[in-house]
Amino acid sequence: MDVNNQFYHDEFAGFIKEDKKEKDKFNMYKRKKLSYQLNEIEPFIDTKTMNEHYNVHYKKYTDNLNKALVENNIYTNGSLNSLISVLKNYENYPTAFRNNGGGYLNHLIYFDNISPYNNNYQNSASAELKSMIKKSFGSYENFEKEFKNKGKSVFGSGWVWLLVFNNKLMIMTTSNQNNPLMKMDTKILLGMDVWEHAYYLKHMADRDSYMDDFFKTIDWNIVSNRL
Ligand SMILES: [Fe+2]
Repeated sequence: MDVNNQFYHDEFAGFIKEDKKEKDKFNMYKRKKLSYQLNEIEPFIDTKTMNEHYNVHYKKYTDNLNKALVENNIYTNGSLNSLISVLKNYENYPTAFRNNGGGYLNHLIYFDNISPYNNNYQNSASAELKSMIKKSFGSYENFEKEFKNKGKSVFGSGWVWLLVFNNKLMIMTTSNQNNPLMKMDTKILLGMDVWEHAYYLKHMADRDSYMDDFFKTIDWNIVSNRL
C-alpha cells in the first residue's frame, strides 16, 4: 500500500463474501508508516498531540476497522481501493464499519499530507497544481482563506478536503469520520482533521490557530503527486 503513489488509483475492486470458512483470507489493514518522526512537526503540531493522534486515535480506528471487517464478513484484498469500494456500501453495514473504516482512511491521508518537508507552497507545489489552484480559487491566498473558512464552519468533529471534481478543484467538509469517497468519485488531494483530538493539547479550543499551524505542515509535493 503506497499512499504516495496516488492512493486511490489501484485497480482492484473490493469484494464481499459470506463464506465464513474463508476467514483466513481477511486482509488486515495497518497504519501507514510515517516518513518523519512524531516530534518533527514541532513547533506547529506538538509531539504529545502527534503521539496521541498517531499511536492512540489512528491505531484505534485501524484496530476497530479490522475487527469490523471480520465481524461483518467483509473481505478485501488489503488495498486501499478495495477498502474504499466497500466503504461506498457502508449503509449495508453497522455504523462501526463506517466510523472506523472512514477513520482509518482519513488518518492515513492526513498523516501522509503533513511532514517537515516541502512545506513551502511556491517551491514545492507542482506547476499543474498551482495552475489549478489559480483557476479554481483565483489565487493561493484565496484558496487558503476559503479552506480555513470551511474549517471554521465544521460544527463539532469533522474534516476539510481539497478535491478534484469535474476537472476543477473544490473544497468540501465531512462530519465525523465520513470521507468524500463514500458518496462520490473524486480524487482527494488534501485532508485536514478538525477533530479536537488533532489540536486540543496545544491549541486548546483555538481551531483557527491550529489551522494556521496546519498550513505550515502541508507537504505540497505529496499533495501535488495526488493529482
Ligand atoms: Fe484525528
